[in-house]
Amino acid sequence: MVAAPTTPARLSLDRARIAELTAREEKRLNEQTPMSGEMYRRARRSMVGGVPSSYQVREPWPIYLAEGRGSTVWDVDGNQMVDFHNGFGSMVQGHAHPAIVQAVQERVAKGTHFAAPVEDAIAVSEELARRFGLPFWRYVNSGTEATMDAIRIARAQTGRETIVKIFGSYHGHHDYVMVSISVPYENIGAADDLASLPYGAGIPKAASDLTVAVPFNDAPAMERRIERLVKEGRPPACVIMEPAMMNLGVVLPEPGYLEAVREITHKHGVLLIFDEVKTGLCVAPGGATEKFGVTPDLVTLAKALGGGLPSGAIGGTEEAMAPVASGRVYQVGTYNGNPLTMAAARASLEQVLTPEAYAHLNALNDRLIAGCDRVLAETGLPGYTVGISSKGCVTFSPEKIVDYASFMATQDPELPHLAWLYMMNRGVFMTPGREEEWTLSVAHSLEDCDRYVAVFAELARDLVA
Ligand SMILES: Cc1ncc(COP(=O)(O)O)c(C=O)c1O
Repeated sequence: MVAAPTTPARLSLDRARIAELTAREEKRLNEQTPMSGEMYRRARRSMVGGVPSSYQVREPWPIYLAEGRGSTVWDVDGNQMVDFHNGFGSMVQGHAHPAIVQAVQERVAKGTHFAAPVEDAIAVSEELARRFGLPFWRYVNSGTEATMDAIRIARAQTGRETIVKIFGSYHGHHDYVMVSISVPYENIGAADDLASLPYGAGIPKAASDLTVAVPFNDAPAMERRIERLVKEGRPPACVIMEPAMMNLGVVLPEPGYLEAVREITHKHGVLLIFDEVKTGLCVAPGGATEKFGVTPDLVTLAKALGGGLPSGAIGGTEEAMAPVASGRVYQVGTYNGNPLTMAAARASLEQVLTPEAYAHLNALNDRLIAGCDRVLAETGLPGYTVGISSKGCVTFSPEKIVDYASFMATQDPELPHLAWLYMMNRGVFMTPGREEEWTLSVAHSLEDCDRYVAVFAELARDLVA
């Protein structure tokens, strides 16, 4: 789980050296990716910014991919890389897994969409119910749709409008959750009075005002805020949170935190939504819900559920799902439970994400964490590792990060980008951004992990040289 931080920072980082290495590595990546550059010049004439999603933007151009098989991807220049990005954590099955390819091939020939239920959707619900201990399921097509619908269900179930989220957490791109994310350190505010700030333009203040943020890993602060909301006459419908935060690198819940949140939410009649879009199916067969032994009222899944096809799901208790069952909440969507997606999800759950697969993922992560720990210890680079099954990261901070404020206060702002460049230039396709983590797949090998560690060692050596 959380390795001990190396305290105090034994290395005062040489900023000029970081700048010099960053410039060198940027140049190398650009020289290695001329076809991506050419594709970008074509793409930006018809696709805004040359990309389908703003999360794919990169200066001077994005890296366009061509193919993926197992743990390997190739970009359009033919650069071969081991994939630790895995589609922002969606491809825990590895690319083009034979079981999923077969299921999709068989399904595609039999018709891909009816907007009528198919048997695969029943099988997927049965398996998810077994894994997550939540009896009732519905489908959507993305993580955003899953959290949007879960919040609506909670509002209908409780008759309340305000929602509570964790400060700094990302839950997709609908208005109610695009609040209090990526806030500059000086604008965060006190733990009991965190700001409700819209993330980007186009979000009505009326929507962001209904979302109240509290710090992660601080159950007393959550309870105080809920009590204040009750006093103000706007008790919350739900707390929506990731049980382990996956957009500050990886931040695990402190012992007892999730149990306390469960108790507080029960006590105040607030529904607890675990957003397991990233953790679900990636950290254990039954996600973080199983891993930490705390069952929410509603859980949201997406990403890894569809084995690479757009997917999403909401699971819940009978009571939480009652507004959907009664028809009071219209939980709808033309592509919900799409046959192709359900065929892929079923094959993934039944044939790929087996108990042996999770044992393999755990062994891989142990190897990666141990290797990175060794590098940190040998070089004195300030940082520590965090890992949970297929997910993990090196956190470039001399102190342990427990929430968004400590992340912004202590995470090195420059090293994540430099580390990304080193990886990309040396055959490791890595998630960009200071808040991201790696995701391993069942197709990864111990050698793949050693490759990551070797590149990390080169970075660390160059930094301390
Ligand atoms: C925890 C969490 N919830 C929801 C979402 C939104 O998912 P999607 O991008 O599929 O809409 C994300 C996306 O990264 C996420 O990390």
